[in-house]
Amino acid sequence: MLKPIPPASFANEIVRWQQVHGRHSLPWQNTRDPYRVWLSEIMLQQTQVATVLDYYDRFLARFPSVGDLAAAPQDEVLALWSGLGYYSRARNLHRCAQDVMALHGGQFPHSAEQLQTLPGIGRSTAAAIASFCFSERVAILDGNVKRVLTRVLGFSADLAQGANERALWSKATELLPHENLAQAMPRYTQGLMDLGATICTGRQPKCLLCPVQNLCSALAGGNPEKYPVKTRKLKRSAQALSLLWAQKPDGSVWLEKRPDAGIWGGLYCLPVFGSDEELKSRLPPSLDHRFEALPTFVHVLTHKDLHLSPWIAGFEADQPMPVALACENRPAGWFSPAAWPALGLPAPIRKLLAQDCAA
Ligand code: ADE
Ligand code: SF4
Repeated sequence: MLKPIPPASFANEIVRWQQVHGRHSLPWQNTRDPYRVWLSEIMLQQTQVATVLDYYDRFLARFPSVGDLAAAPQDEVLALWSGLGYYSRARNLHRCAQDVMALHGGQFPHSAEQLQTLPGIGRSTAAAIASFCFSERVAILDGNVKRVLTRVLGFSADLAQGANERALWSKATELLPHENLAQAMPRYTQGLMDLGATICTGRQPKCLLCPVQNLCSALAGGNPEKYPVKTRKLKRSAQALSLLWAQKPDGSVWLEKRPDAGIWGGLYCLPVFGSDEELKSRLPPSLDHRFEALPTFVHVLTHKDLHLSPWIAGFEADQPMPVALACENRPAGWFSPAAWPALGLPAPIRKLLAQDCAA
């Protein structure tokens, strides 16, 4: 049963609570510069605040403006992103900066509708930027906010269905502040995010501390944890990959740039093969006696477990990479350890290579 909420009281409570109990000193707050707000929102999409803080400062130091970011080589952007994961975010970030320069005269558009046309900016992120920077009356609806709103409203329809998700967007829009939008919108948006992150958590929400406890349908029903309802389960899969760690006596390692699509898109990586057999079948006889398996390890991604099987091959100083082992048409080469930090390397590859340096 959906409980009617008195107009304005929900928004008022969230705004008031945010002013007293919300977060106020994160580096991307207290600014209405869309470049800074956009950068933080993209980083925060799948990464926790504590991790984002360092990356955010480093990005801004290196790219003080959207023009600086647009003008940078993609490899440098990916290298700075290395460790944050979800690299399509970094590629879209770079493309978005270039679109802002090329299509919008270097200024981020001021409406959520326009912001949403840019790469990597979805409906909720566009609304976050537009409400923070321009006080537009638009609703955000990320995972945390879905949890808060479905609970408050007692919204038990299955969010796996598009029609239900759209209905929740409408509800989210109805609940927005109606007055004093210039101040209320940024506070409301931040307040919902903060409430979802700190009070209305997935497990054991702290309802006694919640500013909207008197309006909350789920609390009245005694079962907040049953929301949100979403039936579609994440299907986890496993994938085995074999890695060629080709190394020369001076410590340099053969690295090649991954294609944009697929795993570790756009990052530099050891050559990847679908199986140990495939890797071995491409190995020239001259390398047979200088080739050995290292212990396999598992790297956990959101949707799959990668079972990685590294093989080390010792090359002579002047020995070229055999054609059968190299990928055609992609940037690749021998890179000394000193050069690795400046390349975007996937986290498990960085760890693998670092192990050897430490040994
Ligand atoms: N997560 C997404 N956006 C955020 C913000 N502005 N502050 C804190 N956490 C967030
Ligand atoms: Fe979430 Fe509890 Fe607040 Fe309801 S009362 S919004 S369940 S924290």
